Amino acid sequence: MENYNKFMRTLLAGTVVATLSAQALADNAEPIKVGVMLPFSGIYAALGDAGRNGLKMALKEHAGELHGRQIEFIEMDTEAKPERAPEIASSLLNQHHANFIIGPVHSGVAMGMIKVLKDQDTIMIIPNAGANAATGPLCAPNIFRTSFSMWQPSYPMGQVALDSAYKRVVTMSWNYGAGRESLEGFEEAFKAGGGEIIKQIMVPFPKTEFQSYLSEIGSINPDAVFVFFAGGGAVKFVKDYDALGLKGKIPLLGSGFLTEGTTSAQGPSAEGIRTTLHYADGLDNEVNTKFRQNYQQMFGKEADIYAVQGYDAGLLIAKAVDQLGGDISDQAALIQAMESTTLLSPRGEVSFSKAHNPIQNIYLREVVDGANKVIDVPAAKLEDPARGCKL
Ligand code: PHB
Repeated sequence: MENYNKFMRTLLAGTVVATLSAQALADNAEPIKVGVMLPFSGIYAALGDAGRNGLKMALKEHAGELHGRQIEFIEMDTEAKPERAPEIASSLLNQHHANFIIGPVHSGVAMGMIKVLKDQDTIMIIPNAGANAATGPLCAPNIFRTSFSMWQPSYPMGQVALDSAYKRVVTMSWNYGAGRESLEGFEEAFKAGGGEIIKQIMVPFPKTEFQSYLSEIGSINPDAVFVFFAGGGAVKFVKDYDALGLKGKIPLLGSGFLTEGTTSAQGPSAEGIRTTLHYADGLDNEVNTKFRQNYQQMFGKEADIYAVQGYDAGLLIAKAVDQLGGDISDQAALIQAMESTTLLSPRGEVSFSKAHNPIQNIYLREVVDGANKVIDVPAAKLEDPARGCKL
């Protein structure tokens, strides 16, 4: 009898194990659903396209680490319109049951996504939007960022400006969250070192009629101008700055988005512009060289920071899936795997802060022959202060 009971227990246990592993196999046979929320039209269209390219390239290169799981992409165009964010995010979460949702580019869109996705059964990976709140007061276990906080690339430029003996600076940006936070980051360091912001100019997003503001800057004649513009707006701004005769007269500084993915369109107008960013084209490391070559081959154009950030979102997924042997059904385990990852990014090694924001070098770059050349590292392994994050 005793033997019979033991036999039955073993048999039953065997059945449970067999059922469980059949279930795990079935789950593992399902594709991993990756929702993509990026702007494929509008002023940030090129940024969205580069981010998507990078993401796909990483997941293709690392397909062998996904333990047989296929990737299914569900792509949605945000048009960089914050009002579209909640509906799209909700559809990816509730109708498509996306395991990961990658997006967005625009900080206002990020706010709308977070409202819907925070603490839900999906992982949000931000491959660009810098809104400080995403890894600040709104931080959450299921929200990661592979890009930057607005503070990160702007703050170090404050000291660079002081070191260049600039004392009176005009700042200028689009009037929305990311623009304001970029200027604040610069100001924080610049004012702490005795610099003065003599005028702040805010332009409605996504307007690109800059001429009247530039004439005003010309008559103020500051020591330098610090700006945040990106994508199509950055192209127009840099060309107008030159056309109105300010180039060569008043040094133009910015967070590096000003010259990312834009220099061929900006042409000679971009030469000599100095910016700070967590990447530079010519970074001398093996991952970057290979990344740029493969990107050029696959998409027929030069990679930029947006491509890098999308690529790293893909790397982060691949590394976590690999670590979990392909089974991502336990969200806590998945988050833990992602948190503990160090990415070998084209920008150098990236680890994540407690708030899930990258800890990374910030480079001072200068445009030389159309490329962003590294001239210094004003902040190594810079961590965002994550003000207000309670993780
Ligand atoms: C943002 O809205 O957060 C944003 C957009 C474009 C950039 C950087 C930040 O290049």
